[in-house]
Amino acid sequence: MVTARAPGRVVLIGDHTDYTGGLVLSMAIDRFTEVTGHPGGDRLRLRSHDDAEALDIALPTPDPRAVQPAWGRYCAAVAHEIAQHSSSAAAIGGFTGTVSTTVPIGAGLSSSAALEVATALALGADPEPLGLAQLCQRAEHRATGLPSGILDQLTSICGVEGHALRLDCNTLERTPVALSDRAQVQVRFVAHRRLVGSPYAERVAQCAAAEAIIGPLRLADAALLDRLEDTVVRRRARHVISENERVRAFAAALEHDDLGTAGSIMVDGHRSLRDDFDTSTAEMDRAVDDLCAVRGVYGARMTGGGFGGCVVALTEPGVHIPGAWVVRAAAGAAVVEP
Ligand code: GLA
Repeated sequence: MVTARAPGRVVLIGDHTDYTGGLVLSMAIDRFTEVTGHPGGDRLRLRSHDDAEALDIALPTPDPRAVQPAWGRYCAAVAHEIAQHSSSAAAIGGFTGTVSTTVPIGAGLSSSAALEVATALALGADPEPLGLAQLCQRAEHRATGLPSGILDQLTSICGVEGHALRLDCNTLERTPVALSDRAQVQVRFVAHRRLVGSPYAERVAQCAAAEAIIGPLRLADAALLDRLEDTVVRRRARHVISENERVRAFAAALEHDDLGTAGSIMVDGHRSLRDDFDTSTAEMDRAVDDLCAVRGVYGARMTGGGFGGCVVALTEPGVHIPGAWVVRAAAGAAVVEP
């Protein structure tokens, strides 16, 4: 019997920077996906606690995107990636088991990355963090066609209890940043969303268009923005350049236990996603305003890919926000049994 567990994640600051090799400040949360079962045979059979339809496919799977049920595509794609890149016979055999999760599904808290990572570990993938994160990112691309970055998988794998993570998505360096006991992180659900079919891929393309003119956005500064004639592309680039700066400033504020500054950086980050990156919604804007009006809230913003999902707030401990729940910084994914 094998049980592998992987957490979801919340981004405190640094959204839509990862696919340009930028900076992120994220946190693995105490909501997990578990895959548990027995290796063996040549089929991948998984039952889910959240869907009546089970996954039952022969391995190797030629096209994970054609798999039903849809949640099983992530598992099929992980098995596909393991088979393509592994020389270990044990790592490409079948598996029979169950999937359960406490990560809200389709809420912008990386339920898909948690499923990929837990599946990969249960199927016997090499647990070396960077290779595992890259394998799961490729699986995500294969399952969805979405050109997503690596922050979700990296955070789920590399989380450190009681700490946020500063990620450099160019070098893939992870730096734990301690969260003071004067800070609590709370999340409020706003709306279900799917990034597939959203303008996410268009945002990735617009950033690439900016980089073709002014070079890597992670190295650029605001003075270069004037060279971008297309005003939409210029706004996208302005978000990424300023968001990288906000990650640096936010990490420094946490290190100095300056939570007021950290909170106002989150609010600036939200405005940038709303006005320059156009990934917020009126409902999310309202939720951020509501949260910021609560006494004891340092700041709030939308979190993750956007177009729905959740908002996140940094608060004093014990603050009650209607409809929100406290998330704690959790350790990264692991095989918990045997
Ligand atoms: C989604 C993607 C990530 C990242 C965020 C936005 O969660 O999967 O790679 O781009 O959106 O920061």
